[in-house]
Formats: sequence, C-alpha cells, structure tokens
Amino acid sequence: MRRKLAAGNWKMNGMKASLAEIEALAKAHPDPACDLLICPPATLIAAAAEICQGTGVKIGGQTCHDRLAGAHTGDISATMLKDAGASAVILGHSERREDHEESSEDVRMLAKTAQSAGLMTVVCVGESLFQRQSTNTLDIIGAQLSLSIPDSSTGENLIVAYEPIWAIGSGLTPTKDEIGEVHDFMRARLEHRFGYGVGKSVRLLYGGSVKGSNAEEIFSISNVDGALVGGASLTAEDFGPIVSAL
Ligand code: G3P
Repeated sequence: MRRKLAAGNWKMNGMKASLAEIEALAKAHPDPACDLLICPPATLIAAAAEICQGTGVKIGGQTCHDRLAGAHTGDISATMLKDAGASAVILGHSERREDHEESSEDVRMLAKTAQSAGLMTVVCVGESLFQRQSTNTLDIIGAQLSLSIPDSSTGENLIVAYEPIWAIGSGLTPTKDEIGEVHDFMRARLEHRFGYGVGKSVRLLYGGSVKGSNAEEIFSISNVDGALVGGASLTAEDFGPIVSAL
C-alpha cells in the first residue's frame, strides 16, 4: 500500500521568518495520515530540519550536484543536503530544466548520485503546452521517464511527479481524465521497467496549481498518490487543506 504524500516546493521563496509556517504545519498535523515533505530554499534547510525533528514533517532540497564534493562554486551536494537534515530532493523540475538547461540525462545522473547518498528522489516530468497540442503527451512523458530515472531506483528512493508545465502557477489544471491517463501510463512504464513490485510501490504525485479547492478531486484519480505543491505550500493556512484532503 503506497502511503500518500503532500510535498511542498517553496522554490526561491522563504526567509528565516517563514520557518514559522513550517512549525505551524507540524503543529497542525501532529499525527498526519499522509507523509509531509517541505522543500524550502537551501538557506533554510538546516533550521527547518531542526524545527521538524520528532514531527511528521520531513525536509528536502530542490536540487543537488551530480558529484558529492569538489570545486563547484555555488553548488550543493546530496551529502550536504543530508548533513543539513534533508531526507529528500526534488530533481528535474521544469524550472531547473529550463533555467539551467538540465537534460533528462543530467537529471538521471543527479538522481543516481542523490540515491547513492541515501536521499529520496522526487523526479519531475511534464509536457509544455506546445508539446501537448502538437505531439503525443504520452510519448514526451515516456521519453522523460526512461531518460531521467536511474536504474538504481526502488520504491523506497524514487517518487515521480507529473507536472504539466502549462499548469504550473497558472491556475490551469488538466482534466481528471488527462491526469489519470498520464498517471496510469507512468505506472505501467515503471512496472514494465522495474517489475511489478517496484513499479507498483513508487509514489506518483501530481503538481500544477493544486490548492485546497481542487485537492480532493485530484486525489480521487487513480494512481495519484499525492501532490507536489508550489504556491499553496508557502503557508500552513493554504497547505493545511491540501494535507487534510489526502
Ligand atoms: O513543484 C511544484 C510546482 O511546480 C507547482 O507549482 O505553484 O502551480 O503549485 P504551483
């Protein structure tokens, strides 16, 4: 049985004062029915992890380097994330793919390194609006899945997040059928590649304009095991109803 997961991606948002939101989230959900993960900016990871010790909230990073140490100015390694108290890392978010020209092959290397360091990897895939309108979305997702996910993946160290780029921060969401079609397809592809047991145990998140008002409907879709939430994860008030819907 896959345990549901509500994950928040704070992106480049959050100051020290924002730690109060994480504290409030942990207090509001002392015994959550699902897993909770907040991925704040790197500057807040250590403090957030300390606040969350002994609570149901886990802390994650938003990316890492494909090496564990060395001359890479400005970068952060998977072992550094772990050392700061993170247990997970988001990889291959479309904003990283676009802003930092990360290819799926790059993402696979990052994920392999992060998994070897003992982090749970949340690998993101998703099509652009142009791709959805001009090609077969499942072909795009299939290629991203094959290339971005390392062979070292298991049900314990891999989560896949489907985030249609056009739904991110736009207020637009795909229909239930569109989300279900992609999630069923991803499940089948993972089962085919990793075998039924592993493929069945990998959690599949939906991301893109998830909020309290649409969370319940999205979570009712088959093979949706939770959400990766951007804007609505920044405050305990907005994230709380999403957590409660799981
Ligand atoms: O990683 C989460 C994200 O890209 C979705 O953002 O703001 O549409 O929930 P948002």
